[in-house]
Amino acid sequence: MHTLEHLFERNLEWASAVKNQDPEFFARLARQQTPEYLWIGCSDSRVPANQIIDLPPGEVFVHRNIANVVPAEDLNCLSVIHYAVEVLKVKHVIVCGHYGCGGVQAAMGNEKHGLIDNWLEYIKDVSKLHSSSLEKLDPADRFDSLCELNVIEQVKNVCRTSSVIKAWEQGRELSVHGWIYNINNGILKDLNTCITSWDER
Ligand code: CO
Repeated sequence: MHTLEHLFERNLEWASAVKNQDPEFFARLARQQTPEYLWIGCSDSRVPANQIIDLPPGEVFVHRNIANVVPAEDLNCLSVIHYAVEVLKVKHVIVCGHYGCGGVQAAMGNEKHGLIDNWLEYIKDVSKLHSSSLEKLDPADRFDSLCELNVIEQVKNVCRTSSVIKAWEQGRELSVHGWIYNINNGILKDLNTCITSWDER
């Protein structure tokens, strides 16, 4: 049996370090969460939401999947958006992709990978949609560009969800952002796709 003792040791050290700095931290958070941000990012271990934007527990509601996709029929992703927007009333939804995304790279090829190929179809759709501009690029630039275009298309998908549309109809302050993270230097880039109303889509 493997009990992963070292992770429990790390956890105890972390919890006591947080408590030393702020004795009320956990008691305060336990009462309620009031995050302003919903983060939709890639599952990639190199792209941890809270650490990248240097925010503590309680500040970001997070959904991650392979290649930060927001499919119109994905009950998991839609439920996260629903809860974040309608119950927690976050003010910002951030779709954050990253360069060097393995999911995007796999979607660029024709190799078969098994079950995950169904998921990669969502990224292939983005690739097909932008094929004329992508074809003009060399392979490295095409990879970077598809990582960016995938974020932009997923931002549009977030804007099409009923929760987001309803929030805008009610005149609530809600922005949807598209960002990309560079795993080579730890720097985030805004793709300047911020949408704050139905008309801006
Ligand atoms: Co990725």
